[in-house]
Amino acid sequence: MKPKYIAIAAVTLDGKIAKSKNHMSDWTSKEDKDFLHKMLDKCDVVLVGNNTYKTAVEPLSKRNCIVLTGKIKKPLQKSKNLLYINPKATNLGRLIAKKKYRRVAILGGTQTYSYCLENNLLDEIYLTIEPLVFGKGINLFESQKFIEYKFKLASIKKLNSNGTLLLHYKKFKG
Ligand SMILES: NC(=O)c1ccc[n+]([C@@H]2O[C@H](COP(=O)([O-])OP(=O)(O)OC[C@H]3O[C@@H](n4cnc5c(N)ncnc54)[C@H](OP(=O)(O)O)[C@@H]3O)[C@@H](O)[C@H]2O)c1
Repeated sequence: MKPKYIAIAAVTLDGKIAKSKNHMSDWTSKEDKDFLHKMLDKCDVVLVGNNTYKTAVEPLSKRNCIVLTGKIKKPLQKSKNLLYINPKATNLGRLIAKKKYRRVAILGGTQTYSYCLENNLLDEIYLTIEPLVFGKGINLFESQKFIEYKFKLASIKKLNSNGTLLLHYKKFKG
């Protein structure tokens, strides 16, 4: 069976996922964090970019992780559950299929979400909208060119009294 690639992200009202690449995700609500941990528990592996990984080494240490980096040529198995790969040198989709991972949690950040979107490795998005504005910062997706991928809303849930929303989108198959 084809693995499911599920992106999980929290954004501000102005669509930012962080103020800068070193910014920790400590600005999201408790309800969003609870949801994130539950989702990660349901997935077989976490796919994450090197910048995001560095902001969350400790919480991710107990999970199977594939970290994207451009700094290596061959896959680098750092520990039993931590693998670094360069997607330009290793076919990521094939590697995940070979490892028989069924559910892949795409944890970001921008470069990783964008890579997955552009390479047909994104089936679903869980997007938490936190009711705050950064004004400036890192976007959810950032492409070198104009792109258009369609999604369909599967569900919407209000997570708390401040109005944090959890949106679940699936790739539009029209
Ligand atoms: N709000 C949220 O839900 C959320 C989620 C995730 C992250 N974030 C935030 O986002 C920020 C980091 O974002 P970011 O845009 O810097 O992205 P990132 O994807 O976490 O890290 C980028 C790095 O990952 C590697 N990488 C990613 N895609 C690659 C590719 N296709 N090929 C080769 N290497 C690749 C490169 O590492 P090398 O430099 O080693 O080559 C690149 O410099 C952090 O502040 C984090 O807290 C927020």
